[in-house]
Amino acid sequence: MMPARQLFLTLLCAVSAALAPAAWAQSKSADATYVPQRGQAGKDVIWIPTPQGLIDKMLEVTRVGSDDLVYDLGAGDGIIAITAAGRHGARAVGIEYNPQMADYARRKVAEAGLSNKVSIITGDIFKEDFSAATVVTLYLYPDLNMRLRPSILAMKPGTRVVSHAFTMGDWEPDETVSDQSARAFYWMVPAQIEGEWTLNGLEGMPVNLSFRQSFQQIGGMATIQGVSQPLVGARLRGDELSFKMSLPDRQLVSFTGRVKASTISGTLNTPSANLSAEARRK
Ligand SMILES: C[S@@+](CC[C@H](N)C(=O)[O-])C[C@H]1O[C@@H](n2cnc3c(N)ncnc32)[C@H](O)[C@@H]1O
Repeated sequence: MMPARQLFLTLLCAVSAALAPAAWAQSKSADATYVPQRGQAGKDVIWIPTPQGLIDKMLEVTRVGSDDLVYDLGAGDGIIAITAAGRHGARAVGIEYNPQMADYARRKVAEAGLSNKVSIITGDIFKEDFSAATVVTLYLYPDLNMRLRPSILAMKPGTRVVSHAFTMGDWEPDETVSDQSARAFYWMVPAQIEGEWTLNGLEGMPVNLSFRQSFQQIGGMATIQGVSQPLVGARLRGDELSFKMSLPDRQLVSFTGRVKASTISGTLNTPSANLSAEARRK
């Protein structure tokens, strides 16, 4: 059953989509007295602000800090960007289609004294480039999340993504956070490792690795000296990969490393030594 709040937003979004072209045809240029109304039409989704309590949880779960560049897609009054900069020291960019709303958000940014850290772009989230973000925040609509998903999955592995209320289809969240009746879903963009790799590092014993992948869920096989075995505890978080496998003498070794394009660099921990190891895509 869809929760009442989500049902309400869904219905409002449907109405908004139907009314949007007329609303935009009548849109006027921004003015200093403009005050947005909850539920007002937007290009692809209406404006309802995320409650401050949930914003705090969203920025906590993404561990936003001063090194981050946060993009809020569909920025509304700029509250997420303002909180990311004001409370977490991040730089933040909000993308907002409605020029009056974008101007209003800029006023809020200026009032918060954050114009040096926050910029509000008047633009369309489907046209603007947000690939530089280290953290992406969303409060949109399920089908908009799905339209954005390919661009999000193509971002740098390790990019953190958090979406108020709506999921990303079959890409399972890494975590869910909630505040009162509001919920948000958190993901980390995984590196792409599916396929065949050769791991070198064990003296005279190259290991063939074969990975299967569904988003952040991975599994695979290791083949050493012609003998194949399933990888144990294979885990991928962003670009961080770890797994265990047995050597021909049955000793268990663990690998931890980082994926960078067609190379995985890391360490093989054997009972007798920690060895540098590198895997290359075949
Ligand atoms: C549900 S509100 C979320 C506002 C803010 N992110 C928050 O969580 O408080 C969605 C916002 O997206 C804006 N919007 C809708 N379609 C858009 C598009 N294609 N590009 C940019 N902004 C859009 C709406 O005007 C509205 O302000």
